[in-house]
Formats: sequence, structure tokens, C-alpha cells
Amino acid sequence: MRRHQVAIIGAGPSGLLLGALLHKAGIDAVILERRSRDHVLSRIRAGVLEMGTVGLLHQAGVGARLEREGLVHEGFSLNFNGHGLRIDLADLTGGKTVTVYGQTEVTRDLMVHRDEIGAATIHEADDVGLEGFDGDAPRVSYTKDGQRHEIACDFIAGCDGFHGVSRASVPERALSTFERVYPFGWLGVLADVPPCSHELIYAGHDRGFALCSMRSLTRSRYYIQCSLEDRVENWSDQAFWDELRRRLDPAAAEAVVTGPSIEKSIAPLRSFVAEPLRFGRLFLVGDAAHIVPPTGAKGLNLAVGDVHYLSEALIEFFAEGSRAGIDDYSRRALMRIWQAERFSWSLTTLLHRFDTMTAFERRMQEAEFAYLAGSRNMRAGLAENYVGLPY
Ligand code: APR
Ligand code: PHB
Repeated sequence: MRRHQVAIIGAGPSGLLLGALLHKAGIDAVILERRSRDHVLSRIRAGVLEMGTVGLLHQAGVGARLEREGLVHEGFSLNFNGHGLRIDLADLTGGKTVTVYGQTEVTRDLMVHRDEIGAATIHEADDVGLEGFDGDAPRVSYTKDGQRHEIACDFIAGCDGFHGVSRASVPERALSTFERVYPFGWLGVLADVPPCSHELIYAGHDRGFALCSMRSLTRSRYYIQCSLEDRVENWSDQAFWDELRRRLDPAAAEAVVTGPSIEKSIAPLRSFVAEPLRFGRLFLVGDAAHIVPPTGAKGLNLAVGDVHYLSEALIEFFAEGSRAGIDDYSRRALMRIWQAERFSWSLTTLLHRFDTMTAFERRMQEAEFAYLAGSRNMRAGLAENYVGLPY
């Protein structure tokens, strides 16, 4: 039987970054991924990185292209029914910023790095099974090219996303889950057109939320809130651009440059947390343990926070034989996770149109926006969360 110190399930950003940090510390980890490499790289996800995320990518040795191509943003705009407000991140947080760089590119950089270091990744590994993680000798089995294989390891890191096998392998009675499913989705369009503004615009509107984002100075990413019954086929490019413009303030609407979409998809919005994050020698990391609605761009950044805590804990274990970090992983990570859950839920609730909303709740949104506009303290709280709470 093959043996590795750590078996990582899932080659998304969580699994790949954990693999890179462990490798740097001389710890041998194998990654098992159900999909092909091209499939993993075809997924378009958010693109705003906290400074802590950028720092950890540098630490892992994959920061070079990010440094060259990432766009540093010192603020963003919040709009509410046409009234604009700039959140000056740098001013409100004592100089902190965020970096706009697509998650797909982060994943690509991590994959290239993994090739360079020659670490083991098994793509198209079917029917991954986790065994013995409640004892001292966990094993991971999988099928590849029709053959069943088994790997012995010291620890298993479940980095396999919301629908993965890791959380599903834990007995139900050992897990507590917390969830809110929002009654709408986001329809996203990627297009090779210059962004309508040099900073992101989050817009709350009676017709529904809209977001203007970007991947570069020539590639834009836009979203509009849509119904869960909506289908991508029902939205022509023209209908998308028309609806986007209706939800933006006149200056931004005017500045939108339209063009053919190169990707169009609908994503549902969900808040979800599973507790705890450790079961004997199995750890849950990233989307396997928690989901946030994309409104605060916290999904990837939160996963990177988990990786930070877990990599530290495993490095400490293998270097010093200390269990302190692994015993504390779940508690430390969950504290930060709940803060990001609160922030993402609160920004989602402020900016979206809920069909069930009463006139009172609508006024609450207006009052919160007015408070933000009038209070630097309130804006500072928003900015502090947006740039990312410390690890
Ligand atoms: N066996 C092996 N691999 C699996 C299995 C399985 N049973 N189930 C899922 N996977 C793989 C998926 O194919 C995917 O490549 O695990 C990977 C999980 O990656 P992500 O879903 O990207 O999750 P994560 O790495 O935690 O990334 C954090 O932040 O912005 C958010 O949702 C966004 O993906 C992002 C996340
Ligand atoms: C994106 O660019 O895809 C993006 C940016 C900010 C968000 C969500 C998504 O809050």
C-alpha cells in the first residue's frame, strides 16, 4: 500500500494551497481529485483577494503572477436606488487594500507550482472512500482506470467542496449544521469589455441587486440578482445588459461597455456551516465545511484562512510532535468562519430584494444605507470586514 503523511481530498484552491504549504515544510501530501484538471480550471468563481490571502499565496511560493497581474483596489462603491457611496478601504482601515485576481487564476498558478515541485496529484479518482480516521491509521481508497487503490496516511484533509465525500463520511450524529438558503440566485456574465468603473460597484435596487466587477482592465464580470426559476437560456446578452443598466446609477449605466458574453451562469446563494471541523484524523477545510453567499467575496478567502490554521497545526505536529494546533484547529477556524458568515449574510440582506419583504423591512435597508452614508464608524466596520479580519 502506498503511504503519504497527508491525503488531501480535492484539488480546488483549498487542497492545492494546503499541499503547497505542506510541501514547503517538507511534509509529503498526495491530492486526490475527482475531476480532470481542465474541468477544475473551467469553473469561474469570485475574484477579490484579502491581503492575508495574498500573503499566504506568496508564502506558498505562488505569488509572482498575482503580483504582476493582480489589480490593487483601495475602495469600492455601494449604491442604493441610484445613490452612491464610496467605501474608502485604505483610508478606513489604515492602509489595507484588496487585490482583484480571479480564483481560476489562483488555481492555475497552484497547479503549475504543483507540477514544478513534482508533488503527487491523482486526477479523475473515482469513488474516493475515507476509512479509519477515528483511529491512528486512516486510509483513503479510490478507483482509477478501473482499478481500486488504497493509500495509508497520518491525516486526511477534506478539501472537496460542498458536495464532497469528506463531510458525508462523518456520522450524522457527530455533525451540527446551520443553513440559510436565499430565495434568489445570481446571474453572472463574463465579457471581454473594459469595466464600467475602476472599482467594484455593489448596487441595491428595487428591481434587485447588481454587481460590477472585473478580472482585468479588459475583462469584466457582472452579476444581477435573478429568480431561482430563471434559466441561462432565457437571458440573451442584450436582456442581461439592459437589466444591469436599469439597476445602476445613471453614470455607471452609461459607462457599461457591452459585448458578447464568454461565460454566463446562475449560482444559488446559501449560508452554511458544519461543526466541528475535526473528527479524529480527518479535518474539513473550505467549502467542505462552510458556504457564504458571494456578496462579500469571502468564499475563497475563508477557505484560505482554514488552510492557514491547518497548515500551521500539521507543520507543528510533524516538526515537534505537538498536538496543540490540531486540537485547536476547529475552534480557531470556526471563530473566523462565523464572523465571515455574519458579514456575508448582513451585506446580502442589505442589498438584495426579497419578494417577501414588508414595507418595514425595506425601510430598514434604507435606514442602514443612510447610517453607512452618515457614519464613518459604520463604514469602518464594513471596510474592516471587507479587507478581511486578522487570522
Ligand atoms: N473526491 C475527490 N475530489 C472531489 C470529490 C470527491 N468525492 N468531491 C469533490 N471533489 C473536488 C471537486 O471536484 C473540486 O475540484 O474537490 C474540489 C473542491 O474545490 P472547491 O469546490 O473549489 O472548494 P475549495 O477548494 O474549498 O475552494 C474554496 O471558495 O469562493 C469559494 O466556492 C468557492 O471554490 C471556492 C471556495
Ligand atoms: C467577482 O468578481 O466574481 C466577484 C467580486 C466580488 C464579489 C463577488 C464576486 O463580492
